[in-house]
Amino acid sequence: MYVSLEPCNHFGRVPPCTDAIIKSGIERVVCPFSDPNPKVNGRGIQALRRAGIKVEIGAGKKEAKELNEAFITFHAKRRPFVAVKFAASLDGKIATTTGDSKWITNLAARKYAHYLRSIYQAVIVGATTVRRDNPHLGSRLAGRRDPLRIIIDGRLSVSPSAQVFRDGNALVVASGLAPKTKLAVFKKRGIDVILFKTKRIPLKSLLQELFQREIVSVMVEGGGDVIGNFFDEKFVDKVHAFTAPIIIGGEKAVSAVRGRGIKKISGAQRLKNISRKKFGEDWLISGNL
Ligand SMILES: NC(=O)c1ccc[n+]([C@@H]2O[C@H](COP(=O)([O-])OP(=O)(O)OC[C@H]3O[C@@H](n4cnc5c(N)ncnc54)[C@H](OP(=O)(O)O)[C@@H]3O)[C@@H](O)[C@H]2O)c1
Repeated sequence: MYVSLEPCNHFGRVPPCTDAIIKSGIERVVCPFSDPNPKVNGRGIQALRRAGIKVEIGAGKKEAKELNEAFITFHAKRRPFVAVKFAASLDGKIATTTGDSKWITNLAARKYAHYLRSIYQAVIVGATTVRRDNPHLGSRLAGRRDPLRIIIDGRLSVSPSAQVFRDGNALVVASGLAPKTKLAVFKKRGIDVILFKTKRIPLKSLLQELFQREIVSVMVEGGGDVIGNFFDEKFVDKVHAFTAPIIIGGEKAVSAVRGRGIKKISGAQRLKNISRKKFGEDWLISGNL
């Protein structure tokens, strides 16, 4: 049996895989490395070996690391894996000066973006994006899972009737600036709110909270302010940058990455393991940081 991760020997969301493997009569198991989850970390391999199964470790390490990147980051850094996704013009804008952003990329690219939503456990957006666009943020693809929708909204300025709250699968992150009356409205509607006492929501603490809630991976979808904050804090593990061959222009048009930025090009965050996909005239460039 070839597996992409050490078979587990504990009861998590599913019963131990090692029991099933032992019962099945499989004689040899090949796995890339031991599971970084401290609950497993070598114990699965031990259990198999004790049962007389030959276990070989190391094959397909590179590929398995890619496959399990979110899971590995979750355990190694004790925070969710953070991907950033945006759809920008050639001049790096994700909306016009009036805030219009529909649509920058073509239908095929947007469909792929919906697929990306389904492979991450949660998506994160800022308050302005919800206020302006009232996005659905679901996967919309048959048979694919909808991610948890997380809205960073210090002042609780979004409407509790926004589309993102169409079911219970949403979470609002508010700060000490959130009016108590608004908090009460959200609570009454049964909307889950994480409240930080500070004026700004500290992303590090937010990611720690998401780790506690066992959110393994998130995709930050914008807008530019929220994406910029994640880059400034160096919390981005992967980028999915869609670009369309259009020019938007305008000093006040929102850029894909706002925040503080950097002073010297030598300090730029450079992607590795680049892959490119073409959707008609649009491109998706993905890479890891
Ligand atoms: N093309 C694309 O891929 C794409 C994707 C998403 C959005 N967009 C466009 O992007 C535009 C919005 O982008 P944006 O940069 O203006 O805004 P944004 O990132 O959507 O939201 C920024 C707002 O979120 C709140 N916020 C963010 N970080 C916070 C923190 N750490 N603590 C407390 N509050 C925090 C603040 O709200 P308050 O100011 O209320 O405190 C802040 O002004 C829209 O026009 C939308 O259409 C484009």
